[in-house]
Parts: sequence; C-alpha cells; structure tokens
Amino acid sequence: MKDINDYSLLPHNTFGMDVRAKRYVEYESEAELQQVLPSIDADRCLHIGGGSNLLFTADYDGVVLHSAIKGIEVVDETDDSLLVRVGAGVVWDEFVAYAVAKGWGGVENLSLIPGEVGASAVQNIGAYGVEAKDVIVVVEAISLASGEKRVFGNLECAYAYRQSIFKRELKGAYAITYVTYRLSRKPVLNLSYGGLQRIQPQPSNIQEVRQAIIDTRNAKLPDPKQQGNAGSFFMNPVVTRDKFLSIQSQYPDMPYYDVEDGVKIPAGWMIEQCGWKGRSMGRAAVHDKQALVLVNLGGATSAEIVALSDAVCRSVMEQFGIDIHPEVNFI
Ligand code: EPU
Repeated sequence: MKDINDYSLLPHNTFGMDVRAKRYVEYESEAELQQVLPSIDADRCLHIGGGSNLLFTADYDGVVLHSAIKGIEVVDETDDSLLVRVGAGVVWDEFVAYAVAKGWGGVENLSLIPGEVGASAVQNIGAYGVEAKDVIVVVEAISLASGEKRVFGNLECAYAYRQSIFKRELKGAYAITYVTYRLSRKPVLNLSYGGLQRIQPQPSNIQEVRQAIIDTRNAKLPDPKQQGNAGSFFMNPVVTRDKFLSIQSQYPDMPYYDVEDGVKIPAGWMIEQCGWKGRSMGRAAVHDKQALVLVNLGGATSAEIVALSDAVCRSVMEQFGIDIHPEVNFI
C-alpha cells in the first residue's frame, strides 16, 4: 500500500495539471482498502482511476484513493462464452490486448481507450458502436462509508450513455474493486460504426479490428504524453426529432445517430462548424483533428481550459441552440 501526504497528482491526470492531494492512498487488495477506510472521511475523498477523464481545478484538500488491484481471471466458461473477472486497477487496454490475444471477443472495439478497469464500469466507456455495459455482468464494490462489500448486477448499475449509478445516485459512495465481463469464444465482429465501415479491406477477425481501431484513434486523438488531454471533452447531445429536423434543414450534411430518446448529434461536428477546430485561447486549444477534444498546449491552467470550454459551449448554443455538456469531470 502507498500512503503519502502532500502528493503531486501530475502523474495521475492526463490533462497534465500540476495539483497536489493532501493525502494519497493506493491499495492492492480489498482487505487493504477496508483496513485504511476508518482513517478516511468518505465526504472528503476522491477515488481516481487512470485520471484520463478528470480536470483538476485546484489542489485536493482530502484523500485521493487509487486502486492497484490487479489480475485477470476466468471464473466461468461454456463452449460459447467466458466470464472474466478483472481487478479495478488493471489498465483497460492491457485487458483488451489480453482478451484479443486469447481470441475472446467483445471488447476489441474498445481498444486503446485510456484509463483503468474500475472506471470502465463507472463511466460506461464506449467507442465504435460498443459500450462497456454490453459486456459487464457484475461489478464488485466496497462502500467508502462502511467498508461493506456489495455486488451490483448489470441492471443495478443503471447504465446509459456515459452514465451509471456510480456517477449519479451513488456518486463517490463506492470503490469498485473487480469487474466481471462476458466475452465470447465465437466473436461476432461489430463493424457497424460509420468510421469502421469505410476501412478497406474490412477486418476479418478481432485482432484486425483492434489494429484498425488503434490506427483510427491514433490518427484522430492526441497522445496525452505529448499534449495533455482527457479524450472527448464534451458528450454528444441528444435532441428531439423536431429540433433535429429543424437543424437538418439548414445543414443537410450533418452527421447524426438515431437513439432511443431522440437523435444524437456529434458535438465535435458542431464545434467544427462554429470554427473552433484547431483554435486556441491562451495555452488551451481545440484539437485540430477532432474538435471534441480540448488539449493543453503546455502549461495551461485549469482556468484556461475552463474558459475555452465555456466559450465553445456558448458558440454551439448561439449557432445551434443546443446546450452541450462536458464529459470530463471537474474536480
Ligand atoms: N466530426 C466532425 N468534426 C470533428 C469531430 C467529429 O465533423 O472535429 C464528425 C465526424 O466526421 C463524424 C462524427 O462527427 O461524422 C462523429 O465523430 P467521431 O466518429 O470521431 O466520434 P465522436 O462522436 O466525436 C465518440 C466518442 C469517442 C469515441 C468515438 C468513436 C463521445 C463523447 N465520444 O466521439 O470517445 O472514440 O465516438 O466511437 O461519445 C471519449 O469518450 O473520450 C472518446 C474519445
């Protein structure tokens, strides 16, 4: 276990904010977490994963918790599928690489998403037509207030687009310790997402899907080691059909996705239409290859990132009458 006072969070946030935590605790097992919890005020505690979806706006005056629970274990299997239980501290893409190398299908479309396994279950990470909720069976978690263990079935997690019970009703209440995924021994490739349909030749197995997705992501998304960022900064808004039709009459080429409760419009496309792609304000910029991503050009303060985010939201509101919201968590 690591238990350190006055600790720099620079290595723990991909935006590259040089902020400090009053105390940092990294545990390697459920028992270690339960042992340390009595010394932690659950109300002044922040649980982080890989720090790839956070924007720290100030030092954290409390305890930052991080899981270093590792391990990938097959806990059940049939001829068709397997249940794989993974420690919350496993790096997400290491799990994906492992599954793909074994020939287990289900997570290959989620290749190269930054972050850790615990966060995959909080954030319901998604890309290229697949979301974590499609493969999550069970989430094991420990209450930060009582230390008690609770097991959540997929439905109890109340998953929706980039949403879960762990971001809403139970925000900050539980530390996820293990996630169990259902993977397939007879993978069915999911190449339905727009960008993937255009790849030639089409991938014919999950190894090729993973490679195609790695190539696509590398071409569009900035590497946090070179330019601080937290992936998509905004969520894609869902609007009513009427609103969609009225915008579409002005912008017939607008990309869109029909979803259950309306029509999803890519915020990146709207931000580009507003002329923000590649523009900077101070040391914060809108990425030049994917306008949904804000980047730290080097030494940007969180205030500069927030100012840019606000300016982008205002433009989208003025031009499209749509409120877009950050996906990144401001701390
Ligand atoms: N588009 C533009 N200009 C841009 C960006 C996008 O015109 O600057 C257009 C694209 O041409 C395309 C559409 O918008 O027609 C969608 O773009 P893209 O496929 O790049 O996906 P996205 O909706 O911008 C979402 C996820 C990404 C994920 C991709 C691929 C969210 C918030 N983001 O982005 O997730 O990788 O789909 O599935 O849903 C993340 O969450 O950090 C993330 C990177």
